[in-house]
Amino acid sequence: MKVLVTGGAGYIGSHTVVELLNDNHEVIIVDNFSNSNPEVLNRIKEITNKEFKFYEVDLLDEEKFEKVFKENQIDATIHFAGYKAVGESVEKPISYYHNNLTSTFILCDLMKKYSVKKLVFSSSATVYGMNNSSPLLETMPLSATNPYGMTKLMIEQILGDLYKSDNSWGIALLRYFNPIGAHESGRIGENPNGIPNNLMPYITQVAVKKREKLSIFGSDYDTHDGTGVRDYIHVVDLAKGHIKALEKFENETGVEAFNLGTGDGISVLDLVNAFKGINNVDIPYELVSRRAGDVATCYADSSKALKELNWKTEKSLEDMCRDSWKWQSNNPNGY
Ligand code: UFG
Repeated sequence: MKVLVTGGAGYIGSHTVVELLNDNHEVIIVDNFSNSNPEVLNRIKEITNKEFKFYEVDLLDEEKFEKVFKENQIDATIHFAGYKAVGESVEKPISYYHNNLTSTFILCDLMKKYSVKKLVFSSSATVYGMNNSSPLLETMPLSATNPYGMTKLMIEQILGDLYKSDNSWGIALLRYFNPIGAHESGRIGENPNGIPNNLMPYITQVAVKKREKLSIFGSDYDTHDGTGVRDYIHVVDLAKGHIKALEKFENETGVEAFNLGTGDGISVLDLVNAFKGINNVDIPYELVSRRAGDVATCYADSSKALKELNWKTEKSLEDMCRDSWKWQSNNPNGY
């Protein structure tokens, strides 16, 4: 298939592009580098030894974006592009709603105009809100506690309405749990701007001595060791889920949500200890108070993805810790 990948230079996007190229799909990346680096494109070429097209375009620039559709016979889109920092979304809600929603409206309008009706959307486990118990199932009630999460929830609903209005669309809503790890080559990986918000990039920056110590947010949760429990998934397993979703909707229509997680609940301390043991590095940490908006426990029931996409994770926690460290230690300052 000829696949348009918005946000293809980002963390999950770049790993998905590698898997698409390895599977002999044609790839067209659109990215404005708002939270990514042009060097990632060279690294993708290096890893895959394959060519792809690239357009430096902001999705909000409809005229420029339309050229991508005019110049390529696109079959399907994987839509990663969007702002993604929870805390920043609370500070700048209008910017988050404007960017994430408007870019999706423009994308869907162009897809409709050029009769491209296969779409895989980057959603998030954040749409399960604070009121459900894990394991989380696709059928549970949805809610959001911050503007970032609300954009994911709203886009899921908008795409549901789009399908209702035109049953020729095939749309997969992929609800990611906590992606970590990196390509096994150590050439591409997560490259956050400034102080990392997420746990694994913080751990790797402490390991590489860019940061002094990790703050563990909360040690009094109702979990096996008091720290927050999440479902960490290797980014390459996650990337492969996108290909399975494309394959499902290649000859099918509908709109379906899928959890992409391992189903295993791992605490902050479990992850820190695994990382230390596997990589033989020290991670100094202190226990501090809870972070506002965090739930105690969040992990997936991914049996729907197994049944309907024939997808399951293959990588272990050891792979995740080893590959995250290989990426960070080989690229201490990112790209
Ligand atoms: N944590 C720390 N210290 C840190 C960073 C995180 O202790 O410096 C803890 C958090 O409190 C939490 C766990 O590590 O218990 C994971 O935190 P992350 O920030 O890595 O991930 P979250 O589960 O909070 O958020 C992730 C994505 C969001 C998404 C959410 C959906 O980053 O985009 O999952 O479940 F919305």
